[in-house]
Amino acid sequence: VTKDQPNTSGNSVGAHYDKITAAWIYLLGEDLHYGDFENPQTPLAAATARLTERMAAAGQLRPGLDVLDVGCGIGTPAMTVARRWGCRVTGISISDVGIDIARQRASKSDVADLVRFQHGDAMNNGLPDHSFDRVWVMESSHLMKDKPALFAECARVLRPGGILVLCDIIAHADLTIADTMRFARDFLLLDQVFGRARMVTLDEYSRLGGLNGLRVIQREDISRQVRPTFAGWRTNAGLHRQAVEALLGREATDRFVESTSVLERLWDLNKLGYGILAAEKRSA
Ligand SMILES: C[S@@+](CC[C@H](N)C(=O)[O-])C[C@H]1O[C@@H](n2cnc3c(N)ncnc32)[C@H](O)[C@@H]1O
Repeated sequence: VTKDQPNTSGNSVGAHYDKITAAWIYLLGEDLHYGDFENPQTPLAAATARLTERMAAAGQLRPGLDVLDVGCGIGTPAMTVARRWGCRVTGISISDVGIDIARQRASKSDVADLVRFQHGDAMNNGLPDHSFDRVWVMESSHLMKDKPALFAECARVLRPGGILVLCDIIAHADLTIADTMRFARDFLLLDQVFGRARMVTLDEYSRLGGLNGLRVIQREDISRQVRPTFAGWRTNAGLHRQAVEALLGREATDRFVESTSVLERLWDLNKLGYGILAAEKRSA
């Protein structure tokens, strides 16, 4: 476990996302996650869509499944899962702003009858036991301090034989004290920009994916494939500078731009990366 800094509650993550979501749409696009780049020239929107496809393949999606999208952003992956794979999707998020935008977008879409969005905390989601065939956790777990609670909740709501699929930023190894000191300013900046996060290794995610009746069926480190994401965000910040500054202010916009270089450095030093994991719930 690394970068285990004092946590904020789910609520302050929600407040952070309430504040940044409108700007994030300019900076990241409508998919609020990294891209999976075939090559560095792939457009960011195509790469973020490709990451959704990679998750869908790992999660073995097929028509008619009930999917829980944990940390659903503004609903783009949920709507894609409904449209492309014919699943019924419930999206939950700790951000009310995200949920409002997701509901508005869904109501005007061709998949309005397949998706629904509601406020919920992934670490205590309040949903019934055994109510989903798939649980989809796309780049939200780094914002959750209590990852054992997240995994336990995911396992609880899965039906026997169901699959949990997760992708997120990972730490490549536990940070040493020297690392903590060396990168203290970088991590502070990342917290300010992206919200208080706690990154763990893919080994730790795999360990959690082997508890509560789950069994890991796939894991992959895709750090290299997502690396061009930061250049894409920087380009968007340049293209939409005025609109983003109007939403976030100049200082926060500057910090966002700086964070793209910080992330590139941490990637190139092999401190941070990106992983994907799928775990199956034992059949009854
Ligand atoms: C980086 S965004 C990813 C959004 C979406 N999965 C996507 O790929 O477009 C992180 C999301 O996680 C949500 N989130 C963070 N902590 C959460 C929690 N404890 N419970 C539910 N959602 C949470 C945020 O509100 C936000 O919607």
